[in-house]
Formats: sequence, structure tokens, C-alpha cells
Amino acid sequence: MKLSGSAHYSLLLWSAIVGVSNAASDHNSHLNDDTPCIARSPTSGLYFDLNAISLSPPEMKNGKKIQKDARDESWHARGHDYPANFTINICAPVIEDIKDVVGVESSHWKNVSAYYEQAGKIYSIGEQASEPFFRGRKLVLNYTNGSPCPGDYNTASSKNSSARTKSTIMSFLCDRDAPANTATPSFVGTMDSCTYFFEVRSSAACGGIAVDPNAGGLGPGGVFGVIMLIAVAAYLIGGCAYQRTVMHQRGWRQCPNFSLWAGMFDFIKDMFVIIFSSLGRCLRIKRSPSSSGYVRADGEGRGGFIGAIGGRGVGHGGRRDVDAENRLIDQLDEEWDD
Ligand SMILES: *[C@@H]1O[C@H](CO)[C@@H](O)[C@H](O)[C@H]1NC(C)=O
Ligand SMILES: *[C@@H]1O[C@H](CO)[C@@H](O)[C@H](O)[C@H]1NC(C)=O
Ligand SMILES: *[C@@H]1O[C@H](CO)[C@@H](O)[C@H](O)[C@H]1NC(C)=O
Ligand SMILES: *[C@@H]1O[C@H](CO)[C@@H](O)[C@H](O)[C@H]1NC(C)=O
Repeated sequence: MKLSGSAHYSLLLWSAIVGVSNAASDHNSHLNDDTPCIARSPTSGLYFDLNAISLSPPEMKNGKKIQKDARDESWHARGHDYPANFTINICAPVIEDIKDVVGVESSHWKNVSAYYEQAGKIYSIGEQASEPFFRGRKLVLNYTNGSPCPGDYNTASSKNSSARTKSTIMSFLCDRDAPANTATPSFVGTMDSCTYFFEVRSSAACGGIAVDPNAGGLGPGGVFGVIMLIAVAAYLIGGCAYQRTVMHQRGWRQCPNFSLWAGMFDFIKDMFVIIFSSLGRCLRIKRSPSSSGYVRADGEGRGGFIGAIGGRGVGHGGRRDVDAENRLIDQLDEEWDD
């Protein structure tokens, strides 16, 4: 019965630990795959947060940037042998204010996430999208609905809605040496000037466990609490096993350092008794002159309210209280000595 008591206790502790760790994992589970610009690798389970390299227009105040080092242009990729350079933003429209995009309605100019400029004309190679996903082990993001593809341009002008439009596929590569919050897109190629392929190197493509900066898993306090709980549980369980198997103790004595804890408990109990009885005496002294009749009956009859709490029959008030305290203090001294 005693054993089951302590077993019950350690079970409680374990459930507390499990509860804490469940809370920690619940914390992360709200970062589901629907969160914009975040993808979860199905193989490693890591989260990839591309928001770190998603640029937003610098906040302006009186024509000046609030943050001096804020980027005011999107990421660039050189075209090399392709007769244009590319401007790209990740998960968001480009920062640049572009107009007269070939074959794109003016209402969608603000949605263009990647473009190039050729012969003074701006061609969109995709509209904003923020659902990166995994194709095997590759983190991929695609943009669609750009300018019409070259061969289809004439049909598009004759309002055939089935005309193909330029699109972009980006493959992200982890680069741990890259500075934080930067992306280096490289143009890989295009077969028919309709779909464009890029590789994007960034430290944001390296994956992490807790991605939400506002609620990054357990705080330091939580981690400390978990460690403390585990330590206490290990102490109790290991101590019980040792006392039981090696020292052959039974009942409460198999709890580790039982005598120490029992002593401590007694000490605290006695302290309470002392404090309460002193308090009671103070109150009694204060009250007795004013309403002596009531207090005397109470104080001498049953040893007072305090005596009842203390659990020690004090009998006839003041004098006995002092004796009891003296005895207690002597007892405490003895316990303190050993
Ligand atoms: C692309 O950019 C590089 C340098 O940034 C420049 O030398 C080159 O002329 C540009 N190419 C085109 C087609 O604009
Ligand atoms: C285009 O951008 C506007 C805001 O600028 C947004 O409300 C709209 O949903 C975007 N459209 C698409 C297709 O992304
Ligand atoms: C482009 O991305 C969407 C999700 O954003 C996906 O459903 C679609 O299959 C992708 N297309 C290609 C060609 O990868
Ligand atoms: C528009 O596209 C459909 C097929 O998607 C085709 O049958 C039709 O001929 C096209 N119309 C024009 C004007 O090109």
C-alpha cells in the first residue's frame, strides 16, 4: 500500500513531464503547412521558413527609410547568356514599382513576384505565391500567370484564355555560410522562354525545429522546469530502487533520504506551531484589556483557537503555552544537532 503510494507519486510526476513536453509539441503543431511561406519536410520533419528571405518594401517616413539598412530592391539573378537579368522576390511581390507589364492586366502589376526587362519592356515571369512545397527532398516554390509565352502571344491578344503564360520554378539550396536573411538566386535556364528555372541559395533553406519567432517552443524557464522535473523524478525513482534493492527498506523508508525529509517536515510543522502560538499570545494580550470577559472564557476554557489549531491541548493558557514552546525549541535543538 505504501509502495503503491510512492509509485502513484512518481506516475504523477511522469505525467507532468509528458504533459509539459506535449504542450511543447502542441506549440509547434500550429505551424501547419498552411502557414504562408513555410514548408515542412516530410522526410526530416524540419520546418523551412522562407519568410526570412521574403522582402517587403522598406517602411518610409518623410521620404526616409526608418531602418537604414533595409533593402529597397528585390533579389537579382544575372541572365549570363540569356539576354536579360532577373528580379525576384520570395513569397511576395517585387519591391520595385513596375508598370506596363507585357500582357498582364494593370490590376495585377502589384502582384508580380518575378520579372525581367528586355528592350525596355517588362515581362512578368510569375505572380506572387507563398506555398513552398517539397518535391522529394527538394524545397520548391513556383510562380505562375506571368506574361504570355512567345509563341502564344498572338492568340493571347485575341483573348484566348487558354494561352500559356510564363512561369517560374525555384529550387532552394541550404547555404549555412550565407549571411542571415539573404538569398542568392541563380538563373539555371529556360527551354522555350516560357518556364524559368532558378536555384536559390540561402541559410533560410536549411530548416529548423522551431520557426515561429514569437513562440519559439519552450522558453528558458520551461526548459529549466522540464530538466528539474526529470531530475526530481530520477532522484525519486532511482532512490527508491536503491533503498529497496540494496538497503532492503520497505514502506515509506524506501523513499530516498526518508529521515532527512521526515526531519524537515517535522521542523516546518513545529515552526508553524511556534508561529501560531506566538501570534495567538500577541492577539490575546492585545485583546484582554478591552473585552476581558469574552477572551477569558475563550482563552482559559479550551486553550484558545490557536491551541486547537496547534493540536496540542494547552489547558490553562499563557503559562502552559510558554512551557510548550520551550520544550519544542529544546526538541528542535536536539534535532538540529544530529
Ligand atoms: C545584367 O547585369 C550585369 C551586371 O549587373 C550587366 O553587366 C549586364 O549588362 C546585364 N545584362 C543585361 C542584359 O541587362
Ligand atoms: C494581388 O495583390 C492584392 C493586393 O495587392 C491581393 O489582394 C490579391 O489577392 C493578389 N492576387 C493574387 C492572385 O495573388
Ligand atoms: C506550383 O505550386 C502549386 C502550389 O503552390 C502546386 O499545386 C503546383 O503543382 C505547382 N506546379 C508545379 C509545376 O510544380
Ligand atoms: C483557343 O484555344 C482553344 C483550345 O484551348 C482552341 O480550340 C481555339 O482555337 C483557340 N482560339 C483561338 C482564337 O486561338
